[in-house]
Amino acid sequence: MATIQISTNQCQKPSGWLGRLIVWNMNSRHSKVTDWGLSHITAKPQDTILDVGCGGGKTVSKLAATAPQGKVCGLDYSDVSVAVAKKLNARLIEMGRVGIHEGSVSELPFPTDTFDLVTAVETHFWWPDLPAGMREILRVLKPGGTLAIIAEIYKGAETRTAKLAEKHISKIGMKFLSADEHRGLFADAGYSDVRIVTESGKGWICGIGKKLST
Ligand SMILES: C[S@@+](CC[C@H](N)C(=O)[O-])C[C@H]1O[C@@H](n2cnc3c(N)ncnc32)[C@H](O)[C@@H]1O
Repeated sequence: MATIQISTNQCQKPSGWLGRLIVWNMNSRHSKVTDWGLSHITAKPQDTILDVGCGGGKTVSKLAATAPQGKVCGLDYSDVSVAVAKKLNARLIEMGRVGIHEGSVSELPFPTDTFDLVTAVETHFWWPDLPAGMREILRVLKPGGTLAIIAEIYKGAETRTAKLAEKHISKIGMKFLSADEHRGLFADAGYSDVRIVTESGKGWICGIGKKLST
């Protein structure tokens, strides 16, 4: 139980040398589900993009490759994640194409109507107030901008992990939502054109919503 608690804490907010190791490891472990999720949205070359809960910054570098004339920000509330993401993206930061920020989804350090696209990979289930986090992201999106939430576990998926999680996950403070509950989460926060895509056999989910154009 102690081991589960340690690894849960490290995924929620990586810290110390173990957190550093875990964050580097997540960069490769989450790469496939990230590519799958990103394949459901389109980023334009000049887009301004934010990756919330950026961890070790691999998604930030993927997004920078798809928006070569744009700017990508990564944000994470763990100083270890921020340090690793800065190291991985050092060259892009030097070129002024990437910025990595320490901060929380609850209070994003960006003005209203800033981003064309916001992504969040394997992180939303940890946010302290998920509906408030969704509304805070909506604030920083430009009208017509898109939020994509990507995860490799959801309630109702046909995987052993999802079935196990259904019994135990609430004990570790993780939110565990079904595809329909994800749809409701987007709609209740005020997103339009909500689309939920799942790959049930793998347990993957991608939720997409837009900020209404004014
Ligand atoms: C499981 S890791 C995923 C990291 C990365 N997105 C990836 O796919 O490898 C979750 C990350 O979300 C961050 N995180 C969790 N809650 C957060 C919050 N409220 N605000 C900002 N970052 C948060 C954690 O610090 C951690 O780096």
